[in-house]
Amino acid sequence: MTGLFVTFEGGDGVGKSTQAALLEKWLGERGRTVVRTREPGGTAVGERIRDIVLHHRGHVDPRAEALLYAADRAHHVATVVRPALARGEVVIQDRYLDSSVAYQGAGRVLDPDEIRRLSLWAAGGLLPDVTVLLDLDEASARTRLDAADKPFDRLEAEKAEFHARVRAAFLALAAAEPERFLVVDAALPVDEIAALVRARVGEHLV
Ligand code: TYD
Repeated sequence: MTGLFVTFEGGDGVGKSTQAALLEKWLGERGRTVVRTREPGGTAVGERIRDIVLHHRGHVDPRAEALLYAADRAHHVATVVRPALARGEVVIQDRYLDSSVAYQGAGRVLDPDEIRRLSLWAAGGLLPDVTVLLDLDEASARTRLDAADKPFDRLEAEKAEFHARVRAAFLALAAAEPERFLVVDAALPVDEIAALVRARVGEHLV
């Protein structure tokens, strides 16, 4: 049995964890050992880095931020992901290097190609077998924002623009590697998404 590396990507709040949990359950029923993990985080070192990148108050230089995500990734891949794959297990992971390219690149300060190279260096070249991109279209994203029932202020408008860039970056990555990516409409019912994910992952099960 060979290991399988599956990552979930997409904007914030598109349902990655829900789908990761459903896939874990399905694979477990098929007798596969699953490691569920995430970036940033997933290791003790990673949780400390996560705390800095997500909760530090005040400015963090974009290059420093990119390096922190890369440092988290390097340690996580070396100590969690590769060992699990070597044992023949399935690794299901919330976010991986595509998040770095999409998010750190969307800030417009850093070159997405450089970020990808940095991430690949950190990960020793490890790419997922399957990457599920949960894509939420502009209209649905807007509906979710409107549902929050708050006026659309300047910051939120900026946020919406940033998220539009992140979304475009993810879609471009998926278009460049169609064999690795499964793009799913995140507005579909949970069960339908889960079925599409199972179908794609199932192709890789031996
Ligand atoms: P996550 O915990 O997945 O948050 P959510 O549940 O809201 O999706 O990710 C935390 C944040 O980290 C998310 O906004 C995306 C960002 N991120 C990057 O900017 N670069 C990266 O390389 C990774 C892995 C995450």
